[in-house]
Amino acid sequence: MSETRADARTPLDRTPQWAALGKHREELGDTHLRELFAADPERGRRYTLQVGDLHVDYAKQLITDETLALLRELAAATGVAELRDAMFRGEKINNTEHRAVLHTALRAPRDAVIEVDGENVVPAVHAVLDKMAAFAEQVRGGQWRGHTGKRIRAVVNIGIGGSDLGPAMAYEVLRSYTARDLDVRFVSNVDGADLHEAVRDLDPAETLFIVASKTFTTIETITNAVSARDWLLTGLGGAGSEAVAKHFVALSTNAEGVADFGIDTANMFEFWDWVGGRYSFDSAIGLSLMIAIGPDAFREMLDGFHLVDEHFRTAPAEQNVPLLLGLLGVWYGAFFDAQAHAVLPYSHYLSKFTAYLQQLDMESNGKSVTRDGTPVTWQTGPVVWGTPGTNGQHAYYQLLHQGTKVVPADFIGFAAPVADLLPGLVAQHDLLLANFFAQTQALAFGKTPEEVAAEGVPAELVPHKTFRGNHPTTTILAAELTPSVLGQLVALYEHKVFVQGAIWNIDSFDQWGVELGKVLAKRIEPVLLTGEGADALDSSTAELVARYRALRGR
Ligand code: F6P
Repeated sequence: MSETRADARTPLDRTPQWAALGKHREELGDTHLRELFAADPERGRRYTLQVGDLHVDYAKQLITDETLALLRELAAATGVAELRDAMFRGEKINNTEHRAVLHTALRAPRDAVIEVDGENVVPAVHAVLDKMAAFAEQVRGGQWRGHTGKRIRAVVNIGIGGSDLGPAMAYEVLRSYTARDLDVRFVSNVDGADLHEAVRDLDPAETLFIVASKTFTTIETITNAVSARDWLLTGLGGAGSEAVAKHFVALSTNAEGVADFGIDTANMFEFWDWVGGRYSFDSAIGLSLMIAIGPDAFREMLDGFHLVDEHFRTAPAEQNVPLLLGLLGVWYGAFFDAQAHAVLPYSHYLSKFTAYLQQLDMESNGKSVTRDGTPVTWQTGPVVWGTPGTNGQHAYYQLLHQGTKVVPADFIGFAAPVADLLPGLVAQHDLLLANFFAQTQALAFGKTPEEVAAEGVPAELVPHKTFRGNHPTTTILAAELTPSVLGQLVALYEHKVFVQGAIWNIDSFDQWGVELGKVLAKRIEPVLLTGEGADALDSSTAELVARYRALRGR
């Protein structure tokens, strides 16, 4: 069992593979990408991989064949493949919560057999998908009616973290596949402004709320759901709880919590504790998305996920794209002291993609003890950030080009614009893609002082106009943005995060770091109301609370 394997491991930074990589890094020194490209005219062709529809170009990475070989040796020595196989088999590799990690089962074909505690979970997965599909069709087709008999025109997903970011991101990504006559909105923030803005122009009689919460105890979600229920019942002229059955459904693992809230468990779409919140939008948590894009497109997306799952599970190390991306992140974190990783999509539809990845990556790998609780003495997960590329070019790219930090970046783009783009806008796509290609070129090769001077730039300005280059990027290019391609992209990042967690020997599937703030907020809330207990707070927080109470006239 993997827990035993993890416990027995030599600390990562004391393995011979780590030492070999350190030595290799020293030898690489300041070798410039210009030199690496000059030395190998085939580099741009050789350093590419394909997975499904995704063409992955990693030629502009600060690596050589030897780097890749050494990194793969590290992966072998740290048991990445063994842990991967244990995950796919349904072993309880989330060792602090003693849970299996089986988001891959959510997209397994109907005839697959994947067991947790001796039970095949695949039939239940498909039963829920079928139930979701039937419900989605009813809402889309207008057969599902609200309390007053009106058809549903607006769907509001109430959830937070993994119960929000995935469907909210995917809804944006797949906008051109959505039923445009249905308004789908997402509420996550406990700031009442979020719900206020989401419902202020909606008709309660035409609104369906989806309460999405794995645990059904998350305070933000339950608070917003209660407020939404009040808004609905008031808006329906004081209707009773029977209206709730027509306007509220729940997505959860906690049937008891759902029933306590007053939602009929017949209107609950189930998932399981072996689905992590940040790995859940292809479970019942994707119901809002399925209503928006329809069951067929949703299943296409699942097939895209599954394609990359199979690739990750079976492709040899030299062709394994998630393995490669994971190893590159380890390389920069450990040997270039990179603290951050940028994901820069050149598609407006991917505007929420990086925010989604922030939870996926940072909640998974933002850890500082190994699986057996020993403090790590190596870098773990990076700060993940980024927004759509061209906007970033006019904001923070200055730092990427001329700043002092190492920020490896992924560039994601699509050859074709979406099918329903207004014909008059199609021509803009070449300009978008020209920027996409130009930026990785500028980041990699820069502009030397000699090149700048040769343009007649005055000597004193030459240093300011010089681009050092040598900034590593990966380019991911697909023909077009389809539901399947979205599934492929998300699975690619899920498994990349997995690879890194396996190498760093951390539990990528728990999230204890979110707990302390929740406990303290619960303690502070009554102090805000009554002032009692303020003296137990530290002096800074006590001062802030006193000021807040004064500003609120308490
Ligand atoms: O507090 C963090 C977290 O537990 C995330 O891991 C999770 O995605 C989110 O809260 C929402 O949790 P739930 O789906 O149980 O409401």
